[in-house]
Amino acid sequence: MSLIKSIQQRLNQKKRIQGWPGLIEAYRPWLPVTESTPVITLQEGSTPLIPIHSISERIGRNVKVYAKYDGLNPTGSFKDRGMTMAISKAKESGCEAVICASTGNTSASAAAYAKRAGMKAFVLIPDGYVAQGKLAQALVYGAEVLAIKGNFDNALDIVRELSNKYPITLVNSVNPFRLEGQKTAAFEIIDTLGEAPDWLCIPMGNAGNITAYWMGFLEYKKANKSKKLPRMMGFQAAGSAPLVFNKKIENPETIATAIRIGNPVNKEKAILVKESSNGDFLDVTDEEIIEAYKILGQNEGIFCEPASAASIAGLLKRKNEVPNNATIVCVLTGNGLKDPDCAIKNNDAVFHTGLEADIQTVAKTMGF
Ligand code: F0G
Repeated sequence: MSLIKSIQQRLNQKKRIQGWPGLIEAYRPWLPVTESTPVITLQEGSTPLIPIHSISERIGRNVKVYAKYDGLNPTGSFKDRGMTMAISKAKESGCEAVICASTGNTSASAAAYAKRAGMKAFVLIPDGYVAQGKLAQALVYGAEVLAIKGNFDNALDIVRELSNKYPITLVNSVNPFRLEGQKTAAFEIIDTLGEAPDWLCIPMGNAGNITAYWMGFLEYKKANKSKKLPRMMGFQAAGSAPLVFNKKIENPETIATAIRIGNPVNKEKAILVKESSNGDFLDVTDEEIIEAYKILGQNEGIFCEPASAASIAGLLKRKNEVPNNATIVCVLTGNGLKDPDCAIKNNDAVFHTGLEADIQTVAKTMGF
């Protein structure tokens, strides 16, 4: 065997052992990184695109529905895609501390990546409105957590001002590197399906993610990796739907605390995405969100957080408008384990408690 061939084989083997390198290495030519950018990664990305038959069946007409399960990222949400970029670029610029406002997932992700980079992380959260799993993550990753008597919108105003006044990098989605990282989810969808879907259904809060997906779809289309562009269908919780009702919501409320946002910072960009993709925005009630959440759990074995289920709830609400034979991707932005309180309160499980520890009792309770 020639020397070159044997080196090549060894390199290939190394690649196989190391597996997926994280999205910066996987999509390096598409991202604003250079050889001198330190890559801070937890090997995020490459999340599964899972066919969800029970939703396809509910729509019928040979429509195929897939879930882009981004809750399987390292900290359990799509935020890791943006954070690997934002933190790598912050590190490259010599920054020593980052800050964000968050409904929970951004804080978990920022904390994890900042710590991995050897930086300090400060997170501002609305006191009492962050799901337990997310708070637990920020604490375990060692962020400094500042809970304010206000909502996400108030927290974002504060961190934007802080990052202007003090030497600290803002890693909310106003940071352009966040969207660059998040656009890779659109690349992965096209790489898997071989084409863009007809519809992309996505929950919206601050509307960074819908903007990032659209960037990704546009870039791949321009490079001839796909022939079409999807209609971008954005969904918000009814009590927290500034983009649907086209007005600021002073006191947003919803069970989907991740998207409890009344004044989205990426509003103008999101409206542009809607218009240029011939898409639409719609609100879904908390009841509809929970119904979709249960369908995913009980029929598909997929546990997402309530905000993510808004994409399925929205699709079901608009099912009559779906064209025959369409391919639809619903983005499941966060893992169900993030919000155990919601799960315990909202399920149809049979749960027997306080049983005597003997086989007769257990068998009898089981119906034998
Ligand atoms: N889904 C989940 C699970 C989220 O955590 C968020 C946003 C969204 C959807 C909406 O994404 O803001 O880009 O439109 N969470 C932010 C946070 C606000 O602080 O974790 P968006």
